[in-house]
Amino acid sequence: MDGGLLATDMDRTLLPNGLQDPEPGALDRFRAWASGRRAQVAYVTGRHYDLARAVLAEYRLPEPDWLVCNVGTEIYPAGSAEPVAEWRHWLRRGFDAEAVRARAAALLPRARLQEPAKQSPLKVSFYAQAGAEPDAEEARLEAALAEVGLGARVIVSHDETAGVGLVDFLAPGSGKAPALDFLRERAALGAEQTLFAGDSGNDADALLSGVCGILVGNAAPEVRAQIWRLAAESPGARVYFAERPYTAGILEGMAHYGWSE
Ligand code: GLC
Ligand code: MG
Repeated sequence: MDGGLLATDMDRTLLPNGLQDPEPGALDRFRAWASGRRAQVAYVTGRHYDLARAVLAEYRLPEPDWLVCNVGTEIYPAGSAEPVAEWRHWLRRGFDAEAVRARAAALLPRARLQEPAKQSPLKVSFYAQAGAEPDAEEARLEAALAEVGLGARVIVSHDETAGVGLVDFLAPGSGKAPALDFLRERAALGAEQTLFAGDSGNDADALLSGVCGILVGNAAPEVRAQIWRLAAESPGARVYFAERPYTAGILEGMAHYGWSE
């Protein structure tokens, strides 16, 4: 796709670092596509900047045009270690990280805060027990915060390799889908010119946002069921359920949407 945007999650979507075996050569095929690409590439991850750069180097990933970190709360242009200030400042106005942390700890008595490097003024993250109903839990936590006058976007997901639940409290208006909207607006791209690939709960909003979504084949059965149900309930959502895992699933989805490899 000339002039489009290929956005993808990193862990267990572009990167074959989940429980399932990868297809040999798939990452090389992606590297080859990226080296001659006529579209922009964005990596959209829950990782913070240093951890994202570390895995980019480890897997020799093509340099992206955009690196979106901390679940859509920070957007880094190519070659920059400074996130776009406008996006950060706008989000910061609506979020009181300290108050949210205190209240969230009370709402999630058995959860524990993630490492300090995974916290930011726009993101408060916990390890928690994995629950069955992520969207109901998100709504419960958002409502409980709203009751005490606190705004947050809550995202519940699951790290299948560590077998642990993850709960992120993000600045309202952030998340992967809003960050993707920001990039699309900058480049004046329509939803049909934008692909987004993901595998887990923090990818749900972007997958369902109306862009050309790709759920990679290694996604856990509960995630597949969740995305299937939400896609049916979300007018305008389009999600391709790839059969192949990780990078191979992204390439399969690209072919499905008419993007040649
Ligand atoms: C990444 C982040 C973590 C977050 C998770 C889910 O693993 O490091 O803080 O909870 O993504 O969004
Ligand atoms: Mg992932």
